[in-house]
Amino acid sequence: MSDGAVRYLPPLPGHDEGTRGTVTNHRMREVTEQVAQRGIWDGGVLDEVRALFDSLAPGWTATRDHPARSAPLLDALDRGRVEGRTAVELGAGTCISTRHLVGRFDRYVAADLSPVMLAHAVDGAPPLICTDASRLPLADGVVDVFILQNMLLFPAEMDRCLAPGGALVWVNSRGPETPIHLSTPDVLASLGAASGGEWRALASRVGEATWAVVRRA
Ligand SMILES: C[S@@+](CC[C@H](N)C(=O)[O-])C[C@H]1O[C@@H](n2cnc3c(N)ncnc32)[C@H](O)[C@@H]1O
Repeated sequence: MSDGAVRYLPPLPGHDEGTRGTVTNHRMREVTEQVAQRGIWDGGVLDEVRALFDSLAPGWTATRDHPARSAPLLDALDRGRVEGRTAVELGAGTCISTRHLVGRFDRYVAADLSPVMLAHAVDGAPPLICTDASRLPLADGVVDVFILQNMLLFPAEMDRCLAPGGALVWVNSRGPETPIHLSTPDVLASLGAASGGEWRALASRVGEATWAVVRRA
């Protein structure tokens, strides 16, 4: 099925996390939309977001690490035909999913704003950098694949660093119930506004999770 610049593949069954009870009307939803749609990200918001995730970090893996956690990301890579040498995961948290992805690329770097998240990284995590994704310490056009699972979208930085032909993988583990959530059309609109160009996506669902593989049109 196709909806303009988005082509939807059939959904797959998957594990749902609905019992965790995160409220959709979450401050992080507001921050997500402000960052992606209006470019609102300053020192105060950065401090707020880092403090939140620093505080959540000690319990992060225990409350989210289950065998199906990475299924949507892996499906996005497979059915989205995502390939490339250099992958950068932003907002990697404790790298629950990261460890299942690193072997697919020649180079894989996981980044997060929260030093406490990174300090709790699981075994098998790749090299870690503590950085703000709004100002990545990367040269222009060097990333073949950006991976963002439940992470804020900084569209101008994605456009700056993504190589020609590169892909951005966008996953919301709990679909629209995910606090940090953008619909696929909203991801395309955000990237389009920041870059001045057109973007297209292949998208699907695995259980309640949604994914999109986004490329320049
Ligand atoms: C909801 S958690 C998701 C963690 C992991 N991707 C997962 O799915 O388990 C969001 C993560 O993004 C990180 N984050 C938020 N803003 C960021 C920024 N500006 N730069 C880098 N990481 C950021 C947070 O510290 C947090 O670890």
